[in-house]
Amino acid sequence: MPAIRDVSDIRVLTIGAAMNSEILVCDAAYFRIEYEINPYMDTGLQPDVRAAIAEHEAIVRAHRAAGRYVRHIPAAWECPDMVYTANAAVVRGSRAVLGAPPPERKSEVPYFRDWLEADGFEVLEAPYPFSGQGDALACGELLLAGYGQRTDRRMHAVLGEYLDYDADQVVALRTVSAQSYDLDLAVAVVAADTIAYHPHALDEPSRQRLQGLHRHRGVDLVEVSTAEAARFALNLVSDGTTVTMTAGAPRLAADLRARGFTVVELDTTELRKGGGGVRCTALTLDTPARRHR
Ligand code: ARG
Repeated sequence: MPAIRDVSDIRVLTIGAAMNSEILVCDAAYFRIEYEINPYMDTGLQPDVRAAIAEHEAIVRAHRAAGRYVRHIPAAWECPDMVYTANAAVVRGSRAVLGAPPPERKSEVPYFRDWLEADGFEVLEAPYPFSGQGDALACGELLLAGYGQRTDRRMHAVLGEYLDYDADQVVALRTVSAQSYDLDLAVAVVAADTIAYHPHALDEPSRQRLQGLHRHRGVDLVEVSTAEAARFALNLVSDGTTVTMTAGAPRLAADLRARGFTVVELDTTELRKGGGGVRCTALTLDTPARRHR
């Protein structure tokens, strides 16, 4: 436990307590580019499998070094994108809403459903297109809920109902281009009171909603440039104290260090070929359910 030096340290330690302390990953054994469902994928540019496995293992080691409990689901051959576990579901308390991905990734769903059920989660199938945690980022008592690309906005009410968020706790954020086909490429929860985002990835009403969080809830908003967002800067995992992110975004890394976070930067060259980074490869399992009123 780091020494508490002043009041701002206490904030970080307490708010960081229950964020990303338990995550689900899938190894990169069968990771490959078999189709192109986002603008980063190119079937002519295949990952080096050994390098991809090593890169993924380094990310897992970094999670463990930060004190996170890492669970593992074995990769299945027929699921070339299964390493991106974030799209499998979104979890709160003992409940999970499964992702409803594009047809190319449908074969992943039963594997994740079985794993979550075996682990004791109550699981709901999504009735509309839904990118799982890729479009649903827990932020303290709020849910930052993406839509416009792979998630149908009607999912927000489903998530609220099944995961017990009030309507005003679900913050709808529309991503405006295929570059941000998932919200976790446009917005990052660094702590319950710190959100990093790329303004141009969102429409104006969504930007206003984030500004509202700043004005009414004191959330610190960190802006990320187009260049760093395109290099997956926002696709990070934070426990509120340590931020694990790509090495391609030195400006954001510096901004977060200046705010007192410990930042670990990692190579994501191979994962990027599938259109993902650190956040996409970790499904959060420890988002607390709300206390009963
Ligand atoms: N190739 C995968 C897809 O297009 C990448 C998913 C990355 N996941 C994420 N949460 N952004 O579905």
